[in-house]
Amino acid sequence: MTSDLDPRGPARLVVLVSGAGTNLQALLDACQDPAYGAQVVAVGADRPGIEGLARAERAGVPTFVRRVADAEDRSTWDAEITDLVDAHEPDLVVSAGFMKLAGPAFLARFGGRYVNTHPALLPSFPGMHGAADALAHGVKVTGATLFLVDDGVDTGAIIAQRAVEVADDDDVESLHERIKKVERAMLVDVVGRMARDGWTVRDRRVTIP
Ligand code: GRF
Repeated sequence: MTSDLDPRGPARLVVLVSGAGTNLQALLDACQDPAYGAQVVAVGADRPGIEGLARAERAGVPTFVRRVADAEDRSTWDAEITDLVDAHEPDLVVSAGFMKLAGPAFLARFGGRYVNTHPALLPSFPGMHGAADALAHGVKVTGATLFLVDDGVDTGAIIAQRAVEVADDDDVESLHERIKKVERAMLVDVVGRMARDGWTVRDRRVTIP
């Protein structure tokens, strides 16, 4: 599979959030520089009232919210969020702390160009509590992973990883904060390279030329 970005302008990013949005903020900041090669054209969420949406509003970026609880059922929500994202014609969709799994409609539309960041070195510690699970297991090194979302839970092809050492006195909060710092830098670096140079996927091996 080869990415198919429009070479004429900056890549269009739609970013999905559910919380604090510090990863989103890192992307918004990077996009201030035209040389970065991407712009955040919209921010979507599965819940209202979160700091991630406030960050988008402060940056003058359009937002949309669709709660699962307001949809008839999960597959209807999946179709609705797919259309809401699609309306902004993204080249790349970024899950930046978006706490919902992509459904079949979403993956049919954005598979291969939907990336997610996870606070652990996949395939270790997938799921909602990557940092806590790594700490509880007693690993000495954990980190962050950027991957292309597929229909599993954190199972997609890995685009990039960064390592973080676990300190003897870490608790979940201190470890996750250190991971998030590395995670933001990785996200900005790699999404920018994907936007500028495209990417290929062969047998799960993702290459950015
Ligand atoms: C990140 O560590 C992400 O990997 C995880 O939740 C955190 C989101 O942080 N799923 P933020 O909302 O970008 O600050």
